[in-house]
Amino acid sequence: MAQLWGGRFTKETDQLVYNFNASIGFDQKFYRQDIRGSIAHVKMLAKQEILTEQERDQIIGGLEGILSDVEAGKLRITSEYEDIHSFVEANLIDRIGDAGKKLHTGRSRNDQVALDMKLFIRDEITELDGLVKELLEVIERIMEENLHTYMPGFTHLQKAQPVTLAHHMGAYFEMFRRDRGRLHDIFERMNYCPLGSGALAGTTYPLDREYTAELLGFYGPTANSMDSVSDRDYVIELLSAMSTVMMHLSRFSEEIITWNTNEYRFVEIDDAYSTGSSIMPQKKNPDIAELVRGKTGRVYGALMSVLTTMKGLPLAYNKDMQEDKELTFDALDTVKGCLALFTGMIDTMKFRKDVMEASAKNGFTNATDAADYLVGKGVPFRDAHGIVGRLVLACIDKNCSLDDLPLEEFRSYSPVFGEDIYDAISMKTCVEKRMTAGAPGAEAMEQVIAANREYLQGG
Ligand code: ARG
Repeated sequence: MAQLWGGRFTKETDQLVYNFNASIGFDQKFYRQDIRGSIAHVKMLAKQEILTEQERDQIIGGLEGILSDVEAGKLRITSEYEDIHSFVEANLIDRIGDAGKKLHTGRSRNDQVALDMKLFIRDEITELDGLVKELLEVIERIMEENLHTYMPGFTHLQKAQPVTLAHHMGAYFEMFRRDRGRLHDIFERMNYCPLGSGALAGTTYPLDREYTAELLGFYGPTANSMDSVSDRDYVIELLSAMSTVMMHLSRFSEEIITWNTNEYRFVEIDDAYSTGSSIMPQKKNPDIAELVRGKTGRVYGALMSVLTTMKGLPLAYNKDMQEDKELTFDALDTVKGCLALFTGMIDTMKFRKDVMEASAKNGFTNATDAADYLVGKGVPFRDAHGIVGRLVLACIDKNCSLDDLPLEEFRSYSPVFGEDIYDAISMKTCVEKRMTAGAPGAEAMEQVIAANREYLQGG
């Protein structure tokens, strides 16, 4: 046990208490951020003449030594220290002696851990954003290749109207694009530096908080020292944005699982992304999609946990807040893993265009268009709806589609039907005539695809 705060105590901490309290097992992930923050702090202390330039250089040299030794595996972070902050400080003192004892001047672990978490999350946001962008690139490619791949669009999981694969994929493009927007917003809101807030009430040393904020790439210092050490909104916002990413991945997975069934056969998942059964030799299971769907609950759980942890906390810092880390780390690992795997899975997945198109053809997905045809010939929409409904019933009876009915049959339901009905309800017409902005018609889709491309090129 190596603690920073033994002075006031007359007894050793009970070992179980020590273990329960310690965070080194997980906050060692912060060693880079912790050292980076300390270097900025020390530069500022010297600039403000709180430390001498010599002390500054000695401390920075020591900290850089710790960093390179940890990176090289020469120095191991062990549970002998309570947390990563204690580990770095104790090692520094071992290395450079008395000057090391000045590192923590005008600082508390409360503003230090808030800084470390923010530095860490900033990098993670950038990484997540990159992964979502890679997924968008794959979706965009599938869209570009499938402008004319017809498939049924569903409502209530019932065939509704024909769409294209490009259009269906385009819906997911929008979802993941919004996810990137959320990540960007979080970054913008959180990018203020808590360092210099002390334990909760600032400090009497003449710190230059603007300077440390600038050194660490923040837009500026945070405005209220009590808020700075007790704010975990950015953690909650990130978990919420990640939960939304997972919700989107989970819906997409659910569709892929359905499309991969023998009943649908819309897609074929690449062997590299499928698994077999230990007993049933014929099986090729969509385990990756199922796991992504399953792991969504775990990320929601992290969000609920941190929200619940924070709800009863009085200002300012409370140890409860230490709980944010393991949950956030686990959620980040989960989401990043799911994004990477999911992207690989859909990048290698084959779409059975013929099956999709045949399915669109035999589910009466052109019934609305048949009714619209009648409207075009002057029949009121409600009557047209009834006429086509009766035609559908006749087709079900004959086990055929609307396109298969002879003209006399159409005319026996309404005399306004003419030879042009076949063209009006063809798959091509049904899709291509839908040219309103955002609709599946190729003209409308081409514009969307071009705008997406431009967006992706923008970074
Ligand atoms: N391990 C602590 C955390 O994660 C660091 C801050 C400790 N501050 C304190 N006053 N005990 O929140």
